[in-house]
Amino acid sequence: MGQPFARAADRLLARLLGPGQDRLCLDLGCGGGVQAATLTGLDWRLIGVDISTRQIDLARRRGLTAVVASAERFPLADQSVDAAATIMTTTDFDALPPVFTEAHRVLRPGGRLVVIAAHPASAAPSSNATTGAPAPSTPATASIGASNNAPCSVTGSAPASGPSTSPCLSC
Ligand SMILES: C[S@@+](CC[C@H](N)C(=O)[O-])C[C@H]1O[C@@H](n2cnc3c(N)ncnc32)[C@H](O)[C@@H]1O
Repeated sequence: MGQPFARAADRLLARLLGPGQDRLCLDLGCGGGVQAATLTGLDWRLIGVDISTRQIDLARRRGLTAVVASAERFPLADQSVDAAATIMTTTDFDALPPVFTEAHRVLRPGGRLVVIAAHPASAAPSSNATTGAPAPSTPATASIGASNNAPCSVTGSAPASGPSTSPCLSC
């Protein structure tokens, strides 16, 4: 992940998750744990989950508590975490619904899932007809409030259009 993109992702995590106050957050598809410092810096206790043993080794070397498991099924109890984030993983996961279902299972009522991904429009190969310079890539997000007592809502933030809210497609 490039530096500007990583910094944009850091800002989005701060905005959408806010201060952790020592609560528990999952990083689903954590890779080598590059976002760990941001999340622990926001005072979240963090557990990384990744299917790759090699990536988890890297994440652990960065000091992250991390487990090798699929984001579709990991060994945590129902309603045991306060938040979950998944960053630049939507093109890597085989399917998103099982990941969102699993996140919903482990989130406490009122918990939040933050999804940060590259929006296809902002990942267009070139936007400058004169120089041919590539368009700057900006992450898009969906922050899904997961409550077991009320319908979810999805707050989307695409770079060009700004925040919008729509009903959760899985409810
Ligand atoms: C592009 S990397 C992003 C890593 C990290 N989130 C970051 O922002 O640097 C995608 C990660 O998803 C992991 N992954 C792919 N399928 C997975 C699955 N089913 N469960 C958990 N992790 C998965 C890969 O091993 C890889 O580390």
